[in-house]
Amino acid sequence: MRKKIVAGNWKMNNDLAETEVFLVELKKQVFPENVVIMIAPSFTNLNHAFKSLREHNVELAAQNMHQNNEGAFTGEISAKMLKSVGVKTVILGHSERRAIFHEDSAILAEKVNTALENEMTVIFCIGEELEDRKKGSHFELIKKQLSEGLFHISDDAWDNIVIAYEPVWAIGTGETASPEQAQEMHKFIREIIAENYSKAIADNVSILYGGSVKPDNATEIFGQDDVDGGLIGGASLKVDSFMKIINSF
Ligand code: PGA
Repeated sequence: MRKKIVAGNWKMNNDLAETEVFLVELKKQVFPENVVIMIAPSFTNLNHAFKSLREHNVELAAQNMHQNNEGAFTGEISAKMLKSVGVKTVILGHSERRAIFHEDSAILAEKVNTALENEMTVIFCIGEELEDRKKGSHFELIKKQLSEGLFHISDDAWDNIVIAYEPVWAIGTGETASPEQAQEMHKFIREIIAENYSKAIADNVSILYGGSVKPDNATEIFGQDDVDGGLIGGASLKVDSFMKIINSF
């Protein structure tokens, strides 16, 4: 059975002291047993968060990593470095990485390979811009992002893949896809995975929705058949709203 996951993508927010305040509060919470909970703090806070959460049922994810295992790449972080501080999951292909840092599908495919070689789980983000949706080319675009970035992996590798569908027009804008729009796209994603791999693989992969998920819309979005949870930005920065979302299943 596929996992239900709620992952908090903190982006470039929360310094060490703010992270500590969040963690102290988070550790007081009781978590539902059927939901995998993750947070993705900045690189500088991952080791602290790992040590702090060791006895707790909260996993850690990095927000990015480099495609090479080591070398002269000033300012970059490798899979090995992440694993050495207790991180086993990495978010790849977030729309901010694609748009602001020019990460294209070729780079993302390399990053996926490196993460898988290092036995990490990948949360692979895909999503269309508003223009694509207005033109009606959003399904084509999503198919392209999946084919170019992910569809080279082996059948077995799918055990370590989570997909996050995040329409770019809904990220940080307060505008969410309607539950119907989310379901329609998640179903489509599952169908093309089935076409390219198998129904069993498609049925097993968790597909998260991201883009302005808040406590007041999470229940409806998570209630859709093909939505297995969320990748949460702004609303994951406060324990109260993050917990309300976690408890929305
Ligand atoms: P948001 O961000 O929840 O603030 O819209 C989601 C994301 O970028 O992962």
